[in-house]
Amino acid sequence: KLCELLLVWASFLAAEVSGADRHSRHDFPSDFVFGAGTSAYQVEGAANEDGRTPSIFDTYAHSGLTHGANGDVACDQYHKYKEDVQLMVETGLEAYRFSISWSRLIPNGRGPVNPKGLQYYNHLIDELISHGVQPHVTLHHADLPQALEDEYGGWINRKIVKDFTVYAEVCFREFGDRIRHWTTFNEANVFVLAGYDSGILPPQRCSFPFGLVNCSQGNSSIEPYLAAHNILLAHASAARTYKNIYQAKNMLTYQSKQVPELQNFYACIEEIVISLFLFLMQERQKGYIGFNIFAYHFSPFTNSTEDIIATQRAYDFYFGWLADPLVYGDYPETMKKNAGPRIPSFTPLESKLVKGSFDFLGINFYDAVKVMDNSRSLDVTLRDYQADTALELKFQQKNSSLFELKPWALQGVLEYIKQTYGNPPIYIHENGQMMPRNATLEDVPRVELLQGYIGALLDSLRNGSNARGYFTWSFMDVFELLDGYDSGFGLYYVDLDDPDLKRYPKHSAHWYSQFLKGGRVDL
Ligand code: NOJ
Repeated sequence: KLCELLLVWASFLAAEVSGADRHSRHDFPSDFVFGAGTSAYQVEGAANEDGRTPSIFDTYAHSGLTHGANGDVACDQYHKYKEDVQLMVETGLEAYRFSISWSRLIPNGRGPVNPKGLQYYNHLIDELISHGVQPHVTLHHADLPQALEDEYGGWINRKIVKDFTVYAEVCFREFGDRIRHWTTFNEANVFVLAGYDSGILPPQRCSFPFGLVNCSQGNSSIEPYLAAHNILLAHASAARTYKNIYQAKNMLTYQSKQVPELQNFYACIEEIVISLFLFLMQERQKGYIGFNIFAYHFSPFTNSTEDIIATQRAYDFYFGWLADPLVYGDYPETMKKNAGPRIPSFTPLESKLVKGSFDFLGINFYDAVKVMDNSRSLDVTLRDYQADTALELKFQQKNSSLFELKPWALQGVLEYIKQTYGNPPIYIHENGQMMPRNATLEDVPRVELLQGYIGALLDSLRNGSNARGYFTWSFMDVFELLDGYDSGFGLYYVDLDDPDLKRYPKHSAHWYSQFLKGGRVDL
């Protein structure tokens, strides 16, 4: 027995010394970025302070769906950002993904900019940069100003395109000298499906009883398509503003590519003159603009042809819904065929504006699901989305934690994007492990998740994926959608009983830190 033990110990030591089958951050390209993320409403708190007004996220959080909790105080990052940046530095985070609260910056959604909002984000950005942490900014993370929802229905009204563009432009103008990575929308597909189909997330619109909510405001057969359409147009409009005015280095080539394709010759000339004028007036910024989509790995439930076709349909309806217009300028054919007139059409000019309107795609990846063809049972009462797709999604879950570790699934998604969309630059914007919040600081499943998925990412990179960065969700335990404060994804635990909301590193924070600082770890 003793000999056996000595042998095990000796081989362990040998592996430690040689680092044989272990990896480190240095196995990734030096310009690949590792970080962690949060979003404004989920961490900032100070919901009613310094001129901020409610967003649709506030309204949702006060509707009782989130286990009676809300984000009024959350992690109080509004007051504790310096402490949080310090923790990021100690952890070795290279980047922090956070979002700007539109209703803090422009309280009524449009109109005057709130100086206190400006000041907060300027301070946060400066604090990050001065400590060597790259800020990666999202403009909309489920938190449209409630004022715009009340005034004209938010994302289901085309008026939103202009208001979002003006908001985005304020951000580019005020913060763009220091921000290199902008993402207009966080997981737009989940936002419209959960917000306008099932109604379980903000703005909680749907037209049938489903699960936790029983809502009758809204029209689930049309609104998700409409909201997604307006989101794409708003993104394209903001991206065009950024590219034409702020990302000036590309301005001339961008314009010359557009010229022959623009419909109206005079509108085109006018646009060039205005852009040229603005180009000469503005300070140049050298950033990138992207769009974030939630990505499941889909695979057929059985080997039947029907399930295999249904799997492609699932990718089209779930991912292609947004990715196809961004890359190819139109919705997938299957969507147009199945949803018929309920899915809006792009005019030729809109299609041109949406197509190619991104420098990178952000992916939120958590899980893989099996897809079963359901076309023979359309008479069964199905949600509209499922009726359109005629498929059933079979979720495979582990008992102990929500998401089973499936490294192959992340590789599969990256491979799918590479092959279907011409290998665009990708940031994994979210990937994480939900665990009961008060469980333990020894969050072994989260460490396993980091090991598994970062390892899968390395394999994907070696296989030609154009991934540029990885952000784990989340930097600390935040106010969670649906769960409030009952579950947590964080590297750091936040003690909600402590008036000072003290943060404590979990085992995962130590593991990530060791990896980021160049230590050799198992991947
Ligand atoms: C998706 C969302 O972007 C984020 O807000 C949420 O907290 C996590 N995933 C986990 O549910």
